[in-house]
Amino acid sequence: MFRNIHKVVKLQKAKFSVAAPAPQTNPEILYTGLFINNEWVKSSDGRTFPTENPATGEVITEVQQSGKADVDKAVKAAKEAFRLGSPWRTMDASQRGVLINRLADLIERDRTYLASLETLDNGKPYTAAYHGDLGGVIKNLRYYAGWADKNHGKVVPTDGKYFAYTRHEPVGICGQIIPWNFPLLMAAWKLGPALATGNTVVMKPAEQTPLTALYLAQLVKEAGFPPGVVNMLPGYGDAGAAIVEHPDVDKIAFTGSTEVGKLIQRGVADSLKRVTLELGGKSPNIVLADVDLERAVEAAHHALFYNMGQCCTAGSRTFVEDKIYDKFVELAAERAKRRVVGDPFRPDVESGPQIDREQHGKILSLIESGRRQGARLVAGGGRAGDKGYFVQPTVFSDVQDDMDIARTEIFGPVQQIIKFSSLEEVVERANNTVYGLAAAVFTKDLDKANYLIQSIRAGTIWVNDYNIFGNQVPFGGFKQSGIGRENSEYGLRNYTEVKAVVVKLTEKNS
Ligand SMILES: NC(=O)c1ccc[n+]([C@@H]2O[C@H](COP(=O)([O-])OP(=O)(O)OC[C@H]3O[C@@H](n4cnc5c(N)ncnc54)[C@H](O)[C@@H]3O)[C@@H](O)[C@H]2O)c1
Repeated sequence: MFRNIHKVVKLQKAKFSVAAPAPQTNPEILYTGLFINNEWVKSSDGRTFPTENPATGEVITEVQQSGKADVDKAVKAAKEAFRLGSPWRTMDASQRGVLINRLADLIERDRTYLASLETLDNGKPYTAAYHGDLGGVIKNLRYYAGWADKNHGKVVPTDGKYFAYTRHEPVGICGQIIPWNFPLLMAAWKLGPALATGNTVVMKPAEQTPLTALYLAQLVKEAGFPPGVVNMLPGYGDAGAAIVEHPDVDKIAFTGSTEVGKLIQRGVADSLKRVTLELGGKSPNIVLADVDLERAVEAAHHALFYNMGQCCTAGSRTFVEDKIYDKFVELAAERAKRRVVGDPFRPDVESGPQIDREQHGKILSLIESGRRQGARLVAGGGRAGDKGYFVQPTVFSDVQDDMDIARTEIFGPVQQIIKFSSLEEVVERANNTVYGLAAAVFTKDLDKANYLIQSIRAGTIWVNDYNIFGNQVPFGGFKQSGIGRENSEYGLRNYTEVKAVVVKLTEKNS
């Protein structure tokens, strides 16, 4: 019913190389309703909200806006899908894997369309959306499809005449709240482990980027998941808060800002519902003097500027050893000036716009604070273009640890290059943050690398590379960067309760 046939703003047609198939710049199918019980419905109070193309600031379409009454309906559907004896609860674990694989097949079928829609709604370069985001989504779902019938409990050799074993049972109804920076990928990271382990889901995509998650919901239905297993509620923070507060929701999985993560932690204090949080970061990227300088500059550039700096793992504190500092700054500034910013559908473009007006303004004011507080601006420093939310790739040198740009998560294309002299000093300074999401070390010296690996307090440490993710590798934060881990076998633990079963025996033999 809310499948709109839409003619969207005409975007420049681009010729594409073998890198990715030509995008579909005029998406014809947009789902704009609430997806509850495998049906498309309107919001209870008739409210809608606009979603924009950040490259132009133009509205793509209006989307139905979920409120508390809609959350109640979606949770009711998820509860019914989770009731004892339901098709979902009685389904073989292997069949859950088949359904998740089928969903991955459908995403693969519609990959070009989904990548195009992601670029339109989010602004990320289409080649990155096609290869990075969609590639990651498909692989992640297949990875968790494989886990569906391999999440074993244990037989426990307990004392006495008893047979003891553990069951890994689904937690139940999972509220999943996701951000706008990797809209489909974050949806996949949350759906895969939840569905593999037999939970039901009420998901809320970010208000800036609802379109690909809604399209995904239609594919969930097409794949054959029973009604109510996945429900998709576009809307704002109030809908997220209603999910967090709902008494029938058993678990919250959230990715977003540390600020909202704390609200959620408070929100579950009374109910003690399970909670996992993937939050912000201010990650140190430590470059020692023995490196191949040009490679390290390039890696540090991508560590920060990938996805327009809108990565929770962004290497936003580039610590460089004093002996190579000046040369590093010079090369980093040159590289940033060469970065191609523009229409994200163009294949040569490395950076599109920031997500929205609010983030754009926040980034520009942090750049201003860097200038005011005495950092040296060596590249960029202002908005790019005259429409949309573009920011010039910006580099600051002579950054001090107490400046706002060295402490705040900018979530934009602004690189801070900070000088250090000794390993002990850089460990102390790198750890002097409330965050602990990721870090990297660039060196050829194994002893120094091992020392830093053990000293930096972060959930992931890369050595001689940056932003390398694998579905098999856990991801999450120390300190205020989060609670729990996503991806890998560790990610399954967030979605199961361990039940110990002890059965009396009449006789026990070894
Ligand atoms: N650690 C990670 O894996 C990771 C990944 C991506 C983004 N992030 C972080 O996310 C932030 C950027 O994303 P954002 O601006 O969308 O973050 P945000 O916290 O404002 O929003 C995230 C989601 O939470 C919802 N929300 C807002 N207020 C809420 C409330 N009171 N209760 C429940 N839900 C609420 C939003 O509608 C959105 O869906 C950055 O700080 C970034 O570091 C972290």
